[in-house]
Amino acid sequence: MLMLVKSGGPKQFPEWQDAFAEAAPDLTLRLWDDPSVRPEEVRLALVWDPEPGRLAQYPNLGLILCSGAGVDAIVRDPALPPVPIVRLATPGAAQRMGEYVCWAVLSLVKDARRFARNQADGRWEYFEPRFSAPECRVGVLGLGVLGGRAAEMLAGLGFQVAGWSRSRKAIPAVESFAGDSELDAFLLRSDILVCLLPDTPATRGILSAPLFAKLPKGAGLVNAGRGAHQNFADIVAALDSGQLSGAVLDVFEEEPLPPGHPAWSHPCIFVTPHCAWLAPKRERARFAAEVIAAWRRGEPLPNLFDPARGY
Ligand code: NDP
Ligand code: OXD
Repeated sequence: MLMLVKSGGPKQFPEWQDAFAEAAPDLTLRLWDDPSVRPEEVRLALVWDPEPGRLAQYPNLGLILCSGAGVDAIVRDPALPPVPIVRLATPGAAQRMGEYVCWAVLSLVKDARRFARNQADGRWEYFEPRFSAPECRVGVLGLGVLGGRAAEMLAGLGFQVAGWSRSRKAIPAVESFAGDSELDAFLLRSDILVCLLPDTPATRGILSAPLFAKLPKGAGLVNAGRGAHQNFADIVAALDSGQLSGAVLDVFEEEPLPPGHPAWSHPCIFVTPHCAWLAPKRERARFAAEVIAAWRRGEPLPNLFDPARGY
């Protein structure tokens, strides 16, 4: 069975080949732009950001595997064929995202940017962090595969954790807020806000001035969702006014973040290069192999994109 691959570019293709040779030796992998591929041979596609219109060219395509967790760069295609899309959001990916979120939240709590600024200036300055974990209320926007695990790990560090999702959750030690009607109450109790939402029309631009105004003064912000969730000018205005005290941003409207972008030099912003989750290809290939086997048997598929919800 032939699978076309467009994830990480031609340089990463040999790594995908090695990973799938181990996990699913009966698959034939071909690079996205391989001119020798006949469209009718293609049954599977492993993609991150296919050019719009391209997936519709394969009449026998039966399953799309999103090589990441967020499907926004796939589902923006107006000609997307009506085949299932499964996200390779593995348990190991959730663990890694949880580690990133814990690091980011602790960086804000300990004011790691201030240590870095002081070190750059050769200044030995003693200061007390504002919170210890049990005094700090963290709110996680999005309690899915990644947000749910991040919330559990934060709770394990002793933070007071709540999460916001569309449906009510029952995660031990994590208070659940559900739906638009509970968003304000959730924000009001979030000293540090973490965004792990998918990019949908309902969530785009959510991290902007009206939302920041509902957080406690001096709140911290972590965005590991998508750049489209944030209004960067509003983040800077909130940092400058003291409504926000610091931000850790892994995602941006334009990536890579262009040279000279104000985020690079803002004293209260930590920039990371869209790396919050970097799950090894071998693990994703193993997960994909299980998904493909389930699909072949006609069984229910995990992490399935739901077009009605948009994520
Ligand atoms: P899931 O689909 O598993 O979870 C999404 C969560 O968001 C669910 O809890 C869902 O609620 C909630 N949600 C969606 N829409 C709304 C809404 N309108 N109001 C309230 N809650 C909402 O996704 P994952 O956890 O796997 O991934 C989340 C996102 O993380 C990805 O879409 C991507 O944008 C980002 N990401 C970033 C990475 C990085 O490196 N920075 C890496 C990987 C992912 P419910 O549970 O009720 O459905
Ligand atoms: C994802 C990512 O997988 O952002 O969605 O890396």
